[in-house]
Amino acid sequence: MRKIIIAGNWKMHKTQAESKEFLQGFLPELENTPDEREVVLCVPFTDLAVVSQNLHGSRVRLGAQNVHWEDSGAYTGEISGSMLKEIGTSYVIVGHSERRQYFCETDETVNLRLKAAQNHNLIPILCVGETKAQRDAKKTENVIINQLKQDLVDIDLTKLVVAYEPIWAIGTGDTCEAKEANRVIGLIRAQLDHPDVSIQYGGSVKPGNVDEIMAQPEIDGALVGGASLEPASFARIVNYQ
Ligand code: 13P
Repeated sequence: MRKIIIAGNWKMHKTQAESKEFLQGFLPELENTPDEREVVLCVPFTDLAVVSQNLHGSRVRLGAQNVHWEDSGAYTGEISGSMLKEIGTSYVIVGHSERRQYFCETDETVNLRLKAAQNHNLIPILCVGETKAQRDAKKTENVIINQLKQDLVDIDLTKLVVAYEPIWAIGTGDTCEAKEANRVIGLIRAQLDHPDVSIQYGGSVKPGNVDEIMAQPEIDGALVGGASLEPASFARIVNYQ
């Protein structure tokens, strides 16, 4: 069944001390959050253990920002699914556009990482989305369908979240219009052809636009960068109306 999932992606922000301080402000704000909303924090690797400990007993699920496809080996700088699982991680972002753009991740490695996540019972959040140039050239649909086709080879759609993140809307304050995000997410849903996949929108989601975004029928949640760093602002997003 489609679930509502609001996830924060802290990217490369917050030390352990800062993440503890965040939780002290954020967790009490969840008292009246409807039970059916899944709340996830995708934190840097170095924060996973401390956030895991400090989430104990709370409804918030722990997420990581990447996973390697091997269980162990000579892969300097990488982290495996079993390492994430041991700390209590439930979700992992895979194929974020910043990984694709700055760290040369390809659809092939994204597919390997998705498989590894699922093999370790981690729910991957697969990010797809087009650049501004691709949108201007009217290639949005093609780009996204190609990403989905290549990334999802042999992936179990019942254990997957997809995030539509138009690259031009990330960190720019330039949100994709809610109706347009809804349209593209509808296309993604048609392409997946599976009733259970939750599909989020990501890209400049803020307290001021979350209500309109979440009112769209195809949008099952949000993947939030900058506005997830501050307890009151992420709480307002999680408690959208
Ligand atoms: P912003 O919310 O800062 O635009 O980031 C979106 C994002 O990349 C989430 O993964």
